[in-house]
Amino acid sequence: MTVSASIPTAKSRILIAGATGFIGQFVAKASLDAGRPTYVLARPGLAGCPSKSRVLKSLHDKGAIILHGLITDRENMEKILKDHEIDIVISAVGGVNVLDQVALVEAIKAVGTVKRFLPSEFGHDVVRADPVEPGLQMYKDKRVIRRLIEEYRIPYSYICCNSIDSWPYYDNKHPADVLPPLDHFKIYGDGTVKAYFVAGTDIGKFTMKVVDDVRAINKSVHFRPSSNFYNMNELASLWEKKIGRTLPRVTVTEEDLLAIAAENNIPESIVASFTHDIFIKGCQSNFSINGPDDVEIGTLYPDEAFRTLDECFDDFANELKDNNKDLGSNGNATPNHVVSNGNATSNHVVESLALSAPRALLV
Ligand SMILES: NC(=O)c1ccc[n+]([C@@H]2O[C@H](COP(=O)([O-])OP(=O)(O)OC[C@H]3O[C@@H](n4cnc5c(N)ncnc54)[C@H](OP(=O)(O)O)[C@@H]3O)[C@@H](O)[C@H]2O)c1
Repeated sequence: MTVSASIPTAKSRILIAGATGFIGQFVAKASLDAGRPTYVLARPGLAGCPSKSRVLKSLHDKGAIILHGLITDRENMEKILKDHEIDIVISAVGGVNVLDQVALVEAIKAVGTVKRFLPSEFGHDVVRADPVEPGLQMYKDKRVIRRLIEEYRIPYSYICCNSIDSWPYYDNKHPADVLPPLDHFKIYGDGTVKAYFVAGTDIGKFTMKVVDDVRAINKSVHFRPSSNFYNMNELASLWEKKIGRTLPRVTVTEEDLLAIAAENNIPESIVASFTHDIFIKGCQSNFSINGPDDVEIGTLYPDEAFRTLDECFDDFANELKDNNKDLGSNGNATPNHVVSNGNATSNHVVESLALSAPRALLV
């Protein structure tokens, strides 16, 4: 199929909600790197949170205009959209806040001038994937937002970027903040089900290409880079090459993942339900994307390369070396292997891995 070239409007004014979050930071940086007029919506009261204040300051230093408000405040959102003549709205609010977007969608409808809305998706195609609870509830919420956008005829793009490049820990919602294992691998099922891994910087970069690309209007935009299509066994071998030694592999069965999901500990059980959907059911690749409402990012930008998972794992290995972590052959490297620029989830991960080890070792 021949696709016409995109017509980017370099001067489109972009408003990003959730820019202090994990995915939102990549999107906001990419918007600024692309030289876009970038408005960042910050929740009031962030001054009390040093790490988020630092993020805001760094975005401001790069040229972002910081606005304060909540997406649940429809009146204020209408005012912001009008006063700043916003063309494009991107939301990257977290999974528990998905329904907060209802008021934002209402505001976008009311002003009637927004040319594209990208709601908080940034994962799987939520109408096709069907995880068990408690992950399913997040997808139901995202489906509600999709229905509202479509009912109001707001031009949209849904970013279905699949997994972020990382070791896919089953109990961490931001696994890219943590280095791959140094003690043993937990392999889901038989380790042969494949998934797509995308660098956070590429999620940002390609999202910014999509925002005013006419070929992506009212489409689900799927990220399926063939260079980054790996199963757990391949992922483990790749990491072993980087650290120069092999690690024991422990199987985490389908039943284990379902049991962790059923515990309903939030957010770990949500991540376990997605892990089950990805690595047992194959939710990222068990459907074709040639429908009229789908587009694959590689067909839009065939000349733009993705960072490979190999390169991303090089970064993790370099991070280890920079921190003088033990890459030796004793198999006892400290589990305190956190990416130094990571977020607050890191210590929690070390703890929860330790806590969950006995369960996984039973299988
Ligand atoms: N593909 C993947 O591997 C992957 C990984 C993680 C997440 N995701 C998806 O990416 C999206 C973002 O998730 P995340 O984990 O990046 O989120 P996150 O780190 O929890 O950040 C959420 C952001 O939304 C802001 N926010 C929340 N409620 C708000 C409101 N009512 N008004 C204004 N701002 C609000 C937060 O502000 P504060 O800073 O004030 O809290 C924060 O900036 C979700 O749809 C999630 O499912 C995908």
